[in-house]
Amino acid sequence: MNKELLLKKYHNIFADTSLDSGVYAAPGRVNLIGEHTDYNDGFVMPMAIEKDIKMVIQLRKDKKVKAYSLDYDKLVEFEIDNLLYDKENIWVNYIKGVIDELQKMDKKLQGFNLIFTGNIPQGSGLSSSAALEVVTALAISDLHKIEIEAVELALLAQRAENNFVNVQCGIMDQYISRLGKKDNALLIDCRTNEYQLVPFENEEYQIVICNSKVERGLVDSEYNNRRKECNQAVDFFAEKLDRNITALRDLDLDTLQKYREELSETVYKRAHHVISENQRVLAAEEALEENDMDNLGKLLYASHESLRDDYEVSCEELDLLVDLASQQKGVKGARMTGAGFGGCTVNLVNKAFTADFVEKIKSKYYQKTNLKADIYITNPASGARKL
Ligand code: GLA
Repeated sequence: MNKELLLKKYHNIFADTSLDSGVYAAPGRVNLIGEHTDYNDGFVMPMAIEKDIKMVIQLRKDKKVKAYSLDYDKLVEFEIDNLLYDKENIWVNYIKGVIDELQKMDKKLQGFNLIFTGNIPQGSGLSSSAALEVVTALAISDLHKIEIEAVELALLAQRAENNFVNVQCGIMDQYISRLGKKDNALLIDCRTNEYQLVPFENEEYQIVICNSKVERGLVDSEYNNRRKECNQAVDFFAEKLDRNITALRDLDLDTLQKYREELSETVYKRAHHVISENQRVLAAEEALEENDMDNLGKLLYASHESLRDDYEVSCEELDLLVDLASQQKGVKGARMTGAGFGGCTVNLVNKAFTADFVEKIKSKYYQKTNLKADIYITNPASGARKL
């Protein structure tokens, strides 16, 4: 939806308060490589996608918030100093979480009206929730003239999700939604929260996302289990080794191998994924710099295998999509993307074969699963901004 139409919808619902107002957008993301590494102080390489959430917002004179979701056609009202978790309207908790975090920073907020809409498919691993948190944080802080540096804003949005929504996610999604750059992936070091731009403007190859349409059912509980297993490995090595180990980032495969017998099979496998995935991210960055699509593609396949076998967060449908992709002409690599247990795959496809790829994947996937995959072609997009 464009800005003008969204403004029109806003004015259909809310009267003008004659106070400051603005229109803001924040994108979803696809992670090219580096899965389940962010909360291990590791490396990730996502890009923002050409799908986003747009929000119109206007200050009010009182302490009320009136939030309207166009996609759910639902208005929710609450007082800014009485934030309770809403079991019925899950989406509003992302907004409340951001308000809560701003208030924890002692920022004085006044009430506001807002309306928002998005085209990032929900529950599909393309980070619609991070986009909602980020667009809300940008909109509220901008209207209140609160200056928050970009990485700080991403961290605030992450805390909103950790504390109010109660999902223990890492920093990747909010980071890329805030800091994404057109025509670039970002290599993010999740220990220092610094990033490096990785240009992705290949004339021959493009990123194609396949949505399995499998809802990510187990994701929250299994996600937290994986985090615990990673911490078990860290605790083990922190005690064993004579150097400072605070995250899986501090380990290499040789050391892991050396102690394999002393670790449970599960903990070994989880650590093996994370340590090897960090190496793959750095290798993928080099491959992209050198325009080496063969190598990049191989790294994507290897990442998928590791997520499937070592980290065990894939599912039949995602494996099938990767398998089908590998049989198509012009495909260099494919893997599941995001937390797993459903959602999407990311594919590196030669532009000359993309139309054929889309058609074949859709029909073959349907034949085997009775599910209609959605397929999106996207260039790297810009991060959150005022429109
Ligand atoms: C989810 C989380 C991210 C990251 C990925 C897995 O998207 O929100 O922080 O951990 O899963 O790579």
